Amino acid sequence: MKNSPLTIGNIALSSRALFAPMAGYSDLGARYLARLYGAGLTYSEMVSAKGLVYQNKETQKLLDKSEIETPFAAQLFASSPEYLFKAVKLLPSDIDIVDINMGCPAPKIVKNGEGSALLKDPLLAGELVAAAAEASDRPVTVKMRLGFEMGVFTADKVAREVEKAGAKAVTVHGRYREQMYAGQVDKDKIRAVKESVAIPVIANGDVRSVKDYETMLAATLADGVMIGRGALGNYKIFADILGKKVDRSEKENILLQIDFLKKEYPERIVVNLMKSHVSAYASGKPGLAKEIRDRVHHTTDLAELLSLVEVYFGGEK
Ligand SMILES: Cc1cc2nc3c(=O)[nH]c(=O)nc-3n(C[C@H](O)[C@H](O)[C@H](O)COP(=O)(O)O)c2cc1C
Repeated sequence: MKNSPLTIGNIALSSRALFAPMAGYSDLGARYLARLYGAGLTYSEMVSAKGLVYQNKETQKLLDKSEIETPFAAQLFASSPEYLFKAVKLLPSDIDIVDINMGCPAPKIVKNGEGSALLKDPLLAGELVAAAAEASDRPVTVKMRLGFEMGVFTADKVAREVEKAGAKAVTVHGRYREQMYAGQVDKDKIRAVKESVAIPVIANGDVRSVKDYETMLAATLADGVMIGRGALGNYKIFADILGKKVDRSEKENILLQIDFLKKEYPERIVVNLMKSHVSAYASGKPGLAKEIRDRVHHTTDLAELLSLVEVYFGGEK
C-alpha cells in the first residue's frame, strides 16, 4: 500500500511522499533536490492571487519551475473567489495542479481573511475551490490545518465543503492555527478528516524519518504524506521512503543545489538562498550546527560559501 500510486484528479504521482510548500525555503534548488530523490509532487512557495492579477513580477517568478518538476502544483492564497478565478486564468501552462492555502498562520495573511482564517468559514472555502475549478481544467487541492482556535476542529467541515465544490485532494497539517509550529501533531484528527471525505487526504506535520512516514500513514489512514522541514538538507528521505539507494554525500548535494541555482539566478541571490539551506544541512551535525550557521550567516560571496562547505562537509562520503 505504501508505494502504490496516489492520484490527484487525473494525475498519478510517482510517490506518496510529497515535498511541502515552504515560503523562503522550497525554492527551485530545494525542489530540484526533492524531485531528484523521488518526491511525488512539489509545490511553489505560496503565491498571492492578487499579486498575479496585478502582474507583479516577483510574484510571477515564484511560479518558475524546473524541467524535472512534473507534475508541479502552484499554491495560491486568496480570500476572494473573483481574484482567485482571475489568478488561475493567468497561470502559466506548465502548472499541473492548483493548491489553495488554507493553513498559513501568519498574522499579515490571516488579517486579510486568507490562509488559516478560511478554516473559520467553510462556505467561503468551498466558493474559492469552485472559482479555481471553474477557471481551468486542472485539479484543485487545498492545504489546511485542523482549525483556527486551539481545539476548535473545523477541518472536517472545510474538507467536506471543498470536496463538494470540486477539490481533488486535501492536505492536513495536524495542528491548529493557534499552535503555529509548536505542540504535538494530532494524527487522530487527521484521520477524522480522512474519514469524512472520499477524496485523497495527505497527512502533514513533523515527519522526519521513514519510520515517522510509516507511522503517519498507519495512524491517519491517509493516502499520502507531505514532508517539509524534515526534508530540508535531508532530501534523501524521499529516496529512503521509496527504498531507492542513492550514493551521494551531503557535500555533493549542496554543490548540486548551488550549481542548479547558478543557472537560474545571479550569484548574490544564490548565496542568499543557500545560507538557509546550508544551515539546514548543518542540523545533521549536532556539535557543529551553531558554528556552521553563524559562519554561513556572515558569508557575502559564493567563493566564501563554497570554502565553508568544503571545511564542514568536505570530509565525508
Ligand atoms: C519557513 C516555513 C514556510 C512555510 N511556508 C508555507 C507556504 O508557503 N505554504 C504552505 O501551505 N505551508 C507553508 N508552511 C507549512 C509547511 O508546508 C508544513 O505544513 C509545516 O511546516 C508542517 O510540516 P513539517 O513538520 O513537515 O515541516 C511553511 C512552513 C515553514 C516552516
